[in-house]
Amino acid sequence: MMRLDEREKSFVAQKELFISRVLAEIGVSSLEEIPDQTKIETRALLPVVIRDYKNLRSEEAEQLSHGYWGNYGVAPFLILNPPSMGTTPHPLLELAEQLKSHIPLKYPVEHPMEGHQEAIKRFGSPDGTLKIYNLDGKDGLNSYKEIAETTENFESHNDGLGYAGAVEAFCLYADSAPLAGGYTYFQNIVRLSLALAKSDPEAFEALFLPDAISALRPRGKGAIKVEAPVLFLNEFGAPQCFLRVSSGEYLITWRDNYEPLVRASAFINYLARPFAPASSFLNLNRPGSGCFARNGWLVHGRTSFINGDQSNDCRVLARKWFMTSERHANYKHVPGMHILAEFAEIYPERFGPEMVVGDWNYDPKSGINIRHA
Ligand SMILES: [Fe+2]
Repeated sequence: MMRLDEREKSFVAQKELFISRVLAEIGVSSLEEIPDQTKIETRALLPVVIRDYKNLRSEEAEQLSHGYWGNYGVAPFLILNPPSMGTTPHPLLELAEQLKSHIPLKYPVEHPMEGHQEAIKRFGSPDGTLKIYNLDGKDGLNSYKEIAETTENFESHNDGLGYAGAVEAFCLYADSAPLAGGYTYFQNIVRLSLALAKSDPEAFEALFLPDAISALRPRGKGAIKVEAPVLFLNEFGAPQCFLRVSSGEYLITWRDNYEPLVRASAFINYLARPFAPASSFLNLNRPGSGCFARNGWLVHGRTSFINGDQSNDCRVLARKWFMTSERHANYKHVPGMHILAEFAEIYPERFGPEMVVGDWNYDPKSGINIRHA
């Protein structure tokens, strides 16, 4: 069997700190006490009902905080006074502002697509959120669109491919809801990884390999290829995951020449299916429903949905990303990953400072990422 080389061994050694930090956060003293979390039932989440989004009550904020920092890493909500679409500030931004001391929402990022001309044509002036809606039929079936911009299933992923793992939290908010379907589901990969650490330590360790998984978005302005560990310590030493399941334009491959990683990928991909054991889900099924989610620990996905003929029967989600630090609150598009310096230094060609700044693009002809700015 293939063995790890010295560089790989020193890199995957971050697993020790990873385990102790996750244990400390969930309040468990040793791996031995971790139950078989893969037997936990799937949970339908109920929202925190918010009377007035402009005046969040302290008990509502507490409940949201509890959801975000709890087992599922999600704080679903339903506001009872959703304003008409186009109202500024957008209600999700007003909520985020009031929740900053509870949930890491201090550093929102302005996404270049927020001012997209198609979105402005459909929904009016930008309101500080990015709109996610079905683009099918806009300009023929052959035009390029992201899987997010269809009514199809969108498999599990962390948000922010190309942002080097700096998207700490996100908010989704239904400006309007579809006729049917469109379940949003979540899995707490960081937390569940401890079950693997207990049952198959070698497989768990393999998830820290620098090239464990490769995610390729091959086309368009967002073309990028990211090779990274599935589990790692980020630049602040916080445990984090990077995971996607192939979906639409996203092509995901795992390194396949190391048997423990093959076992680990089977474990992880099993848990990343929609409605898998220990996962949770909700349905953003009316205007004013939404959620804050812990992007660094969770993956999430969406099931397919049906839009109606009327615009208020069509799914439009407003989305905002919140970054790990103020210095990441700018657009970037990079192949690297923010990893704790002492480990990043082992692979400067992958995770060095120049790999996490600028504007890079994947070039399909050469098969590599090229920096433009
Ligand atoms: Fe997403």
